[in-house]
Amino acid sequence: MAAYFCTSLVPTLLRALFVIQALELGQTRALTNASCIGAEREALLKFKQDLTDPSGRLQSWTREGCCRWEGVECDEKTGHVSKLDLRNPCDGLVECSLGGNRHPALYELKHLKYLDLSFNTFTPQKIPESLASLRKLEYLNLSWTSFYGNISNQLGNLSSLQYLDLSLTLMKSENLR
Ligand SMILES: *[C@@H]1O[C@H](CO)[C@@H](O)[C@H](O)[C@H]1NC(C)=O
Ligand SMILES: *[C@@H]1O[C@H](CO)[C@@H](O)[C@H](O)[C@H]1NC(C)=O
Ligand SMILES: *[C@@H]1O[C@H](CO)[C@@H](O)[C@H](O)[C@H]1NC(C)=O
Ligand SMILES: *[C@@H]1O[C@H](CO)[C@@H](O)[C@H](O)[C@H]1NC(C)=O
Repeated sequence: MAAYFCTSLVPTLLRALFVIQALELGQTRALTNASCIGAEREALLKFKQDLTDPSGRLQSWTREGCCRWEGVECDEKTGHVSKLDLRNPCDGLVECSLGGNRHPALYELKHLKYLDLSFNTFTPQKIPESLASLRKLEYLNLSWTSFYGNISNQLGNLSSLQYLDLSLTLMKSENLR
């Protein structure tokens, strides 16, 4: 009786375990696929809307979600956009460059740790103070991005910053300390 009980139960248990595991797997998949936070998607779309993109690098920026868009990465745990890598992929060639205006919605992506806009010929613009609101930045590359002007003291607020590349921006550095 006991033996019969065991042998019939084991496969059932195994099957149950398998089902639970499959469910968990599905759930993590769904999470990593997680579409992205609505407000951040809106901010990215606003940012895109004022840009020119002759090589179509931002073509994927229309799909649902945003965490799988070209150049965008989200934190796996929080789902927030944590990385924006829009570096010109063709060694600065104009054909692959983004242009136009950088919409201030960019500075709403408060969970960004990594921002690379390098080698894109945007419309020249002063380095905005709102850049300082990206408090979590660890990597900031504005090399060749036609930013100019003084670096606001508020950039001192970026206390996690480890890499800062402002080379060949049109910057004047009177305020650099
Ligand atoms: C998850 O991402 C994959 C690959 O991009 C896609 O094929 C799949 O439909 C997505 N699943 C969900 C639930 O969004
Ligand atoms: C910044 O970007 C430029 C051009 O893409 C690259 O050459 C440079 O190494 C980058 N700087 C850092 C600190 O990674
Ligand atoms: C920078 O930090 C100071 C002091 O902590 C704060 O008052 C100020 O609002 C911050 N500026 C920005 C742009 O976040
Ligand atoms: C930079 O700061 C200096 C001194 O504070 C000021 O005279 C100059 O006009 C500023 N330049 C720009 C482009 O804002």
